[in-house]
Amino acid sequence: MIRRRRLRASENLRALVRETSVSASDLIYPVFVIEGKDIKNPIDSMPGIYQYSIDRLDEELDRIREAGVKGVLLFGIPAHKDECGTEAYNEHGIIQEAIRYIKKVFPELVVIADICLCEYTSHGHCGVIKDGIILNDETLPLLAKTAVTCAQAGADMVAPSNMMDGHVAAIREALDEAGYEMTPIMAYSAKMASGYYGPFRDAAHSAPGFGDRKTYQMDYHNPREAMRDIQDDIDEGADIIIIKPALAFLDILKTASWETDMPLCAYNVSGEYSMVKAAAANGWIDEKKIVMENMIGMKRAGAQMIITYHALDVANWLKEE
Ligand code: PBG
Ligand code: ZN
Repeated sequence: MIRRRRLRASENLRALVRETSVSASDLIYPVFVIEGKDIKNPIDSMPGIYQYSIDRLDEELDRIREAGVKGVLLFGIPAHKDECGTEAYNEHGIIQEAIRYIKKVFPELVVIADICLCEYTSHGHCGVIKDGIILNDETLPLLAKTAVTCAQAGADMVAPSNMMDGHVAAIREALDEAGYEMTPIMAYSAKMASGYYGPFRDAAHSAPGFGDRKTYQMDYHNPREAMRDIQDDIDEGADIIIIKPALAFLDILKTASWETDMPLCAYNVSGEYSMVKAAAANGWIDEKKIVMENMIGMKRAGAQMIITYHALDVANWLKEE
């Protein structure tokens, strides 16, 4: 008789035949840095996540070091927003200064700079606007400048999340021209127009002031279009491909893992995090079990790395085992 249960008989036997795993070195932790002094603001919709001013960042960096997480994805929240998102590409803007600070006190931490304008624009859209229309080609040089100033500040990678056409090519060209040909681009290639970003927009003060992001982020009904977007970014010079959100889009991650040989990253976004935290806070689910199951789901679908707000918890749980 075929008895599948033979190999399920003990923890050690199960460990031997296990096909996937997650480790601290797979994880990237998002960090929100806000302009100002002595700030540690909790995000109500994301329990456990805070905005830090640079002078309070040490506390967070210590937690990251202790957990053994190797990478962070940085988001800046400027004091001043305007039509063109000027602070995004100010050499001494909040994200550039945060990068400088982190690379000074924690040089081995991989610092990834999110490249977008929505945290920096007064209207909250990811590009420049004329007559209510988000302009594609006019936005590209601003993104390129943002990426170059982040590289100059010491960023190890840049992560364009903007979804303008040609953004990866524009950034690659500008980085190369400025002498940063070795700075990798981690592209948000398949980024859906998703309801799952709600809590992030509280955390990053980046909700659009009018309309939505559906004219630039992808329509989530279209898995084949997602593959086209991924291929475009590969052709434009992306080094790592992000699929976002993660859990409702594991089919796209899996297809990408079959159809490309690029390193793949799942972005386990804010809404996915907050749903788990809310259910756990109510005692309805076991947080650790659910989070680990979600992490393995993303690994099984083909992600080499995962951007997740659970990163420090996961890394600490793995150490306990
Ligand atoms: C900025 C950006 C967003 C996220 C990452 N970069 C928000 C958005 O597109 O509205 C979402 C991250 C999350 O929800 O955790 N363009
Ligand atoms: Zn944006």
